[in-house]
Amino acid sequence: MSEPSKFLLTDSQIPTVWVNVLPSLPEPLDPPLNPQTRAPLTPQDLLPLFPMELIEQEFSPQPLIDIPGEVMDVYRLWRATPLYRARRLEKALDTPAHIYYKYEGTSPAGSHKPNTAVPQAYYNKRAGIRRLATETGAGQWGSALSLACQFFGLECTVYMVRVSYDQKPYRRVMMNTWGAEVWPSPSDHTNAGRGVLASTPDSPGSLGIAISEAVEDAATHADTNYALGSVLNHVMLHQTVIGQEAKLQMRQAGEEPDVVIGCFGGGSNFGGLALPYVLDRLAGHGPRLLAVEPAACPSLTKGTFAYDYGDTAKLTPLIKMYTLGHDFVPPGIHAGGLRYHGASPLLSHLLHLGHIEAKAYSQLPCFQAALQFARTEGILPAPESSHAICAAVDEAIAAREEGRPKVILFCLSGHGHFDLGSYESYLGGKLQDYAYPGREIHAA
Ligand SMILES: Cc1ncc(COP(=O)(O)O)c(C=O)c1O
Repeated sequence: MSEPSKFLLTDSQIPTVWVNVLPSLPEPLDPPLNPQTRAPLTPQDLLPLFPMELIEQEFSPQPLIDIPGEVMDVYRLWRATPLYRARRLEKALDTPAHIYYKYEGTSPAGSHKPNTAVPQAYYNKRAGIRRLATETGAGQWGSALSLACQFFGLECTVYMVRVSYDQKPYRRVMMNTWGAEVWPSPSDHTNAGRGVLASTPDSPGSLGIAISEAVEDAATHADTNYALGSVLNHVMLHQTVIGQEAKLQMRQAGEEPDVVIGCFGGGSNFGGLALPYVLDRLAGHGPRLLAVEPAACPSLTKGTFAYDYGDTAKLTPLIKMYTLGHDFVPPGIHAGGLRYHGASPLLSHLLHLGHIEAKAYSQLPCFQAALQFARTEGILPAPESSHAICAAVDEAIAAREEGRPKVILFCLSGHGHFDLGSYESYLGGKLQDYAYPGREIHAA
């Protein structure tokens, strides 16, 4: 019999709880601050934007939180996602390392983002909200929320970062198909957008600007709430279904990872895979945890661990995180979902405490790794996910050079079927690497 390359779970093995690491942290997180008073945020401060059940999850002391039945019903449409052993990639790299990847691109929207979009839509519907407003970088989060809003009978407005809006027109069509309205950001629908357009009419946009627009939209309409696709604790929490499943599947494969890798925008796919392993690390064992970000937007490796705003217009609470400055506009790299100036406060804290590592790559080696992956394993990765592949390949090459076995697990957070324009540029030799934007980051 040939060796298995695919590890699958039955519906009854899909996790029924989310894993909350907040109560297990050796030191508590610094609290988010009210942007007006600079006092620690109260749940009431967040009510104009989020429903109470999500706010409670943001600060929850419970180690495990039950996943509601209606959310499980939707999760079952595509979960559990497969875990693969990348035997053909291992062979191409001539490495003694075993490489595993958890593939989140099997969701209807094509990434891990529906894992949190679905519960966010569910809790908002229960709170009597009519519409959700959000931002999207690459279009993956906007697609996921459009889908989730459709399932729970909510309207959805998406502010899509201008450069992605132009690069990925079919993402917009996908969101429209699921019933959402989509504006390129900066837009003239909000004060925040009009402000940016007045000073920079040809702004490529950024997640920071699009967040300002969506927050303003929600804060100025009583029947509308805001939904964020990454960064916040409740988003990390919902994504822990990834790591819980991966642990079961690695056990099926009879191996434990030495290193767990995920690309890093705001931290949700990396956190989703890594946080269940963080509990092992806090208990004194467990793998290395490696977050991989773009060199053009290096919040974890070159940012400052400080209080900053989550958005450009300074509408969000101040959060303690690794940040490049809230008005830093990253270069228009093709991994649009990684163009965020900040980072999850929970993962920032864990990085600061030394429980996770971070590394940055520029986009050309990432596309090269994506191509090698597509040509060996078959799946065409999202440009964001290619950062995790690039790091996994480097770990496998290091194992070869050291002549040591190693078990590598990474999250393939999404497919790149809407990113063919980026692949076309790469294959045509038209893609450039951006120099590290040191001056702009220093100014921000
Ligand atoms: C496929 C994919 N991977 C990763 C990310 C980065 O987000 P996060 O760090 O929250 O996982 C995105 C963001 O849009 C994405 O679309």
